[in-house]
Amino acid sequence: MPEQTLQGIHVMSRENTSLTPKRLEGKVAIITGGARGIGEATVRLFIKHGAKVVIADVEDVTGTALANSLCPSATYVHCDVSSEKDVGNLVNSTVSLYGHLDILCNNAGVLGNQAKRKSIVNFDPDEFDHVMCVNVKGACLGMQHAARVMVPRRSGCIISMASVAGVMGGLGPHAYTASKHAIVGLTKNVACELGRYGIRVNCVSPFGVATSMLVNAWRSCEEDEEMVDLGLPQEEEVEKMEEIVRGLANLKRATLRAKDIAEAALYLASDESKYVSGHNLVVDAMWQCRVLCI
Ligand SMILES: NC(=O)c1ccc[n+]([C@@H]2O[C@H](COP(=O)([O-])OP(=O)(O)OC[C@H]3O[C@@H](n4cnc5c(N)ncnc54)[C@H](O)[C@@H]3O)[C@@H](O)[C@H]2O)c1
Repeated sequence: MPEQTLQGIHVMSRENTSLTPKRLEGKVAIITGGARGIGEATVRLFIKHGAKVVIADVEDVTGTALANSLCPSATYVHCDVSSEKDVGNLVNSTVSLYGHLDILCNNAGVLGNQAKRKSIVNFDPDEFDHVMCVNVKGACLGMQHAARVMVPRRSGCIISMASVAGVMGGLGPHAYTASKHAIVGLTKNVACELGRYGIRVNCVSPFGVATSMLVNAWRSCEEDEEMVDLGLPQEEEVEKMEEIVRGLANLKRATLRAKDIAEAALYLASDESKYVSGHNLVVDAMWQCRVLCI
């Protein structure tokens, strides 16, 4: 019941205001690429909201350490998302352990080479195949195997990580841009198919977040060298990257962080979005508007 203050303003009593209600209580989630970056932030937030999370990645040391630190709410499974065998095993082992699967977050992704082979004139078919294999085939395989176990239960939720590079051009290498546009299309198509089974399918399109992916790309551009994954960025590199992104952003006085993308994924994973499907939740603070109109 509301309590009345001396000024006559009504405020809710403590028992009615849980500041952080657990929005994923009892849910089981798989998060691919969950060992670091946006995936790691999503793992942490989903667990905070009561989910059991299976972290799926190729970075076994980092992924296992994260799962151990979040035990017993997290487990780690080695999974290369571009391998059908690995993805099938990931879903089967999740169902064996927890009995069912409620949420798949297709977050794993690679950027490809940022610097030297930037021009279409220098198109590299092998690199294109690799990027499409991880980003698009990986998301397809995830959807396929998640649907296999979600359809019989007539419920489930699939979220894929697209990008602002999936809604406009000029923001990343060609293969990456093509792969992220493909994820948006795939999301809409699979949402059409799986809606009849009560399964929602959505994607999230972040603007720049200072994770290893973006910092490695920035390093390679600065040095005009092929991109090498040097693992977790230094604190100064993160700060510098965040400053660059803030400078580009339309919305001032805010810094986009991995946690903000995890919050978007949490909304799509939770019952608050029960009537949202086939949607691309762009988290760019209207950056496209600034680029295109002004
Ligand atoms: N950081 C950004 O600015 C940004 C912007 C838009 C979209 N995204 C997307 O968000 C997602 C997460 O990116 P991030 O910035 O956290 O990058 P990141 O490089 O920090 O993390 C990516 C994770 O995916 C894992 N991974 C890579 N290949 C894999 C494979 N074949 N199988 C399983 N796991 C694999 C990596 O080991 C890593 O843990 C990606 O899909 C990325 O394209 C990122």
